Amino acid sequence: MSITPATVPHHIAIVMDGNGRWATRRFLPRLAGHRQGVESLRRCVRACVARGVGVLTVFAFSSENWNRPADEVSGLMDLLAKALAREVPQLSRDGVRLHFVGEKSALSDKVREGLRQAEAATAANDRLVLNVCFNYGGRWDIAQAAAALAARGEPITEASLHAAMGMAHVPDPDLLIRTGGEKRISNFLLWQAAYSELYFSDRLWPDFDEAALDEAIADYAARERRFGRTSEQLQQQPTAARLSA
Ligand code: IPE
Ligand code: IPE
Ligand code: MG
Repeated sequence: MSITPATVPHHIAIVMDGNGRWATRRFLPRLAGHRQGVESLRRCVRACVARGVGVLTVFAFSSENWNRPADEVSGLMDLLAKALAREVPQLSRDGVRLHFVGEKSALSDKVREGLRQAEAATAANDRLVLNVCFNYGGRWDIAQAAAALAARGEPITEASLHAAMGMAHVPDPDLLIRTGGEKRISNFLLWQAAYSELYFSDRLWPDFDEAALDEAIADYAARERRFGRTSEQLQQQPTAARLSA
């Protein structure tokens, strides 16, 4: 199936998995895989801009990734700070607006300042929203939203929780991709992925190129999103069903 604007998901979310294995297969340190992962992300962002995707959300560091060896964790922190310093000018020229979603208080002052500057420098851009989930966990997000509502004495409803979560500024993901062959969510977007189409690729993240992205989009385009309805209902009122989803 060819890619047309109508078949491109508005919001794509990606669990960028497989950097470590990519490096290990080449007898390189794991961090070399993460560095290659940044290259792959740059390529993916440009491909999403070119295809008219509105929102790209990527999982860069999970709440559980602190359990990795200390040198890998500090290497990832360093890589984030350096990648931001290097990439933000070009991202800005490409019309990308950056958001960081996750528990920022656990990050160093230097990293936090880097995130703040990158968000400020790209705040006026409107071609693609790039959410980088860093020190993020779906459980953390639900719990922090509930705690914020409780502290303000506000009722907890689906709408109020949604609004208090880290992804309130964008609609839910249409397509959720995980690279690297594992078929699990690993605490990503637990709330927001309720009706996302899931796509699992065996490619390791550094090898996930434009063609692989197009395959995922084509697969998505062939899905029937029913949102609880029946196929017959969708065929009778396709537009109405989609609009009220
Ligand atoms: C994903 O790649 C990136 C992060 C979790 C930071 P991995 O580092 O998990 O790669 P594998 O799964 O070990 O190959
Ligand atoms: C998920 O990958 C987190 C990121 C891609 C940032 P992991 O490699 O940490 O996931 P598990 O541990 O295999 O589930
Ligand atoms: Mg992994």
